[in-house]
Amino acid sequence: MQLVVMGVSGCGKSTVAALIASRTGCALAEGDDFHAASSIARMATGCPLDDTTRAPWLAAIAAWLTERAAGGECAVVSCSALTRAYRDVLRGAGPDVRMVHLAGPYELVAQRLAARRGHFMPPQLLTSQYAVLEPLGPDEPGITLNLDAPPDNLADEILRTFGLRPHCAG
Ligand SMILES: Nc1ncnc2c1ncn2[C@@H]1O[C@H](COP(=O)(O)OP(=O)(O)O)[C@@H](O)[C@H]1O
Ligand SMILES: [Mg+2]
Repeated sequence: MQLVVMGVSGCGKSTVAALIASRTGCALAEGDDFHAASSIARMATGCPLDDTTRAPWLAAIAAWLTERAAGGECAVVSCSALTRAYRDVLRGAGPDVRMVHLAGPYELVAQRLAARRGHFMPPQLLTSQYAVLEPLGPDEPGITLNLDAPPDNLADEILRTFGLRPHCAG
């Protein structure tokens, strides 16, 4: 199974994806790492990406997922995957791609972003992220969780939902 931890900037994708990977031993990728330098520069100046500038980024993440799926590997990637069309691209990677949407109110996420340090994404882009966000449709395989829960609880719930087993060190 390949999991995409999705949602607006600051919802906790990277935190939760890393936790799932460390608990399960699944391969981990950080969606931000697939952006072109020009896209990161654009976002850092407060300008959102659009469908055109997101296309190569999504394709690169889908390619990573395709490799994991082809090898039958367990994998988890953080990726905002804000729209159904973007998620369709990611689901094209294989039959076992599942979405985990960390959802919650703007005010809470804005507080988190205001406190976060060392990330290129400026808090003012959050408004556009919510404007573009399409929650999971009932026909989209995956789950929606409240981003307000502690990361450990979110990871517990995700492992339970998808029947992922914690791996044993050593
Ligand atoms: N469940 C959570 N509860 C409280 N704070 C969180 C939670 N998840 C993440 N954070 C904090 O919120 C900020 C944004 O989390 P991050 O994982 O970077 O989000 P994203 O990858 O979605 O942009 C970070 O400072 C992180 O430590
Ligand atoms: Mg992140």
